[in-house]
Amino acid sequence: MSSKQTILVTGGAGYIGSHAALALKNAGYEVIILDNLSYGHQEIVDRVLQVKLVIGDTSDRALLDRLFTTHKIDAVMHFAAYIAVGESVKEPGKYYRNNVASTLNLLEAMLAHGTNKIVFSSTCAVYGMPKEIPMSENHPHNPLSPYAASKDMVERLLKDFDIAFNLKSVVFRYFNACGADPGGLLGEDHTPETHLIPLALLTALKKRETLYIFGTDYDTPDGTCVRDYIHVNDLADAHVLGLKYLLSVGKSEVFNLGNGNGFSVREVIETAREVTGLEIPAIESDRREGDAPILVGSSDKARNMLGWNPQYADLKKIISHAWQWHQNRHKDR
Ligand SMILES: NC(=O)c1ccc[n+]([C@@H]2O[C@H](COP(=O)([O-])OP(=O)(O)OC[C@H]3O[C@@H](n4cnc5c(N)ncnc54)[C@H](O)[C@@H]3O)[C@@H](O)[C@H]2O)c1
Repeated sequence: MSSKQTILVTGGAGYIGSHAALALKNAGYEVIILDNLSYGHQEIVDRVLQVKLVIGDTSDRALLDRLFTTHKIDAVMHFAAYIAVGESVKEPGKYYRNNVASTLNLLEAMLAHGTNKIVFSSTCAVYGMPKEIPMSENHPHNPLSPYAASKDMVERLLKDFDIAFNLKSVVFRYFNACGADPGGLLGEDHTPETHLIPLALLTALKKRETLYIFGTDYDTPDGTCVRDYIHVNDLADAHVLGLKYLLSVGKSEVFNLGNGNGFSVREVIETAREVTGLEIPAIESDRREGDAPILVGSSDKARNMLGWNPQYADLKKIISHAWQWHQNRHKDR
C-alpha cells in the first residue's frame, strides 16, 4: 500500500488546479482530480499530469461518497468553481448553486468520511473597492458581484464548520492569477477568456481582432487600472506550503496571495508587444462598472507564516511563460 498522502483536487483539470496538481505530484503526494470538465481539459490530466481523473461534479453526493470510501483522502484542495464575474451578474443562481451549494455538499461529504482539512481558492474580490493599498487580510469585505459573494459565503461556511465540526481550512485569496508553467507543459486556456494577459497574447496570435482597454482616466500613473499579477507557479507553490501547514499545524488560516507590485493595463499590453514582437491593436473604451482603479495586495502573512517565496514577480517573465504556452497551444490550430 502506498504511504503517500492522498489529496483530492477538485477543478484540477482547470488552469490553477492543474498547476497545483503538478506541484503536489512533484512534492510526493498522491493526487486524485475531480473535475466535471465543464471548463477543464482532460488531455492535460492524461498527457501531462498523469494522475487519476474522476469525471464528475461536486454536487453529486453519491459520487463523493464512493470516492471517499474507495480512497483514504487526507485533504482536499478545492478549485472547482465558475469564475466569470460578468456572467455571475447575469446568472447569479448558477454561481450560488455551483460555488456555494456544491461546496456545502463537498464539505458534508468530507466530514461524513472523516476528512477534515481543505485548502480553498478564494479571491481578492471579497474585499470590493479598496480602502487602503496594499490590502491585507484584515481589509473589510464588500463583495461587489455574485461571484465574489459566492466566495465570501464559502469563507463564512468554512468558519462555521470549523467551530461546529472542527473542519480546518487554509483559505487563499488570490489576486490576478497569470503566467504558465515555465517548463511549457501547462497554461491558461479559458473559454471564454476574460483575463488581460491571455487576451493580449491571443490578439497577438490573431485569434482575436482587438483588445479593449476599459477606462483611461483613472487616478493612476497612466490612467489605466492597476492590478496585482501573481504567477500561477507561485500560487501552486503556496498551495503545497498551505497544505503542509494544514497537515502539520492543523489550524485554520486565511492568506492573500499576490505579487505586491501593481502593473497597469497599458504596461501589460506594452510588455506583451515587447515579448511577442507582434502587433497588439488595443481600443480605448469606457470604464467598466465596478472596476477599482488599483488592486494590490500584501502577502506578508503567507511569506512569514508559510515561508512562501514567490519566484516570478517580473512582468516580462510572467508574460514570456504565458507566451511560450500560447504559441505551443495554438501552433496547429
Ligand atoms: N484565475 C484567477 O485569476 C482567479 C483569481 C481568484 C480566484 N480564483 C479561483 O481559483 C479557482 C480556479 O480558477 P481557474 O482560473 O483555474 O478556473 P478554471 O475554470 O480554469 O478551473 C475550474 C475548474 O473547475 C471545474 N469545475 C467547475 N465546477 C465544477 C464542479 N461543480 N464539479 C467539478 N468540477 C467543476 C471546471 O471544469 C474547471 O476545470 C476558482 O475557484 C476561482 O474562483 C481564480
